[in-house]
Amino acid sequence: MRIDILTILPDLLKGPFSESILKRAISKGLVQIVIHNIRDYAQNKHKQVDDYSFGGGAGMVMSVEPIDLVIEKLKNERQYDEIIYTTPDGEPYNQKMANYFSTLNNLVILCGHYKGVDQRVRDNLVTREVSIGDYVMTGGELAAAVLTDTIVRLIPGVLSDETSALSDSFQDNLLSPPVYTRPANYKGWEVPGVLLSGNFKEIEKWKWEQSLERTKKIRPGMLED
Ligand code: 6GU
Repeated sequence: MRIDILTILPDLLKGPFSESILKRAISKGLVQIVIHNIRDYAQNKHKQVDDYSFGGGAGMVMSVEPIDLVIEKLKNERQYDEIIYTTPDGEPYNQKMANYFSTLNNLVILCGHYKGVDQRVRDNLVTREVSIGDYVMTGGELAAAVLTDTIVRLIPGVLSDETSALSDSFQDNLLSPPVYTRPANYKGWEVPGVLLSGNFKEIEKWKWEQSLERTKKIRPGMLED
């Protein structure tokens, strides 16, 4: 899989992909992540990538031309399955979308900024608009990192134990059960006895009950979906 990320703040995206699981996925060749600085495609002397909003209103708007030029260049090189725009007024991102994106070959993620991008980008170039939650961030870069992380970990071979992605919270519409490791007793804080029992069937039953209880308490809406 290849993910091209278009941003005006490329340095913001250097960190998240140079550690741990994502770093290993890249070095194993399971995913290629390419960061593009939109400013490199600005056609004016000052490399300006934004401008005032037609009709007035606060905030600058990202211009259509440099974004169109970088997308056109990429589309000339390969076919893209989706061109995703990260924006707080997008479709709420969820695990189902991550599962779908992880099955694709080539993805573009365009990071929003300022008061947004020129609507013509959204109308003519973007195929999906995604928000990562009901709050506003200064830009779409961290959202692009969230999308990339959630997509890449689902690519076969990225996680060492592939079943660990299958037992994630949300994959089965329930939150994960509590987990414990040694010591079994720390300052009198004890691990539930059933987990030490060796009774596989009882343990699975307990985990399922715990998942259900947590979901009912914290995310009751998930049980209705
Ligand atoms: Cl994708 N971008 C920004 N700027 N803020 C957000 C978001 C995206 N998703 C939630 N808040």
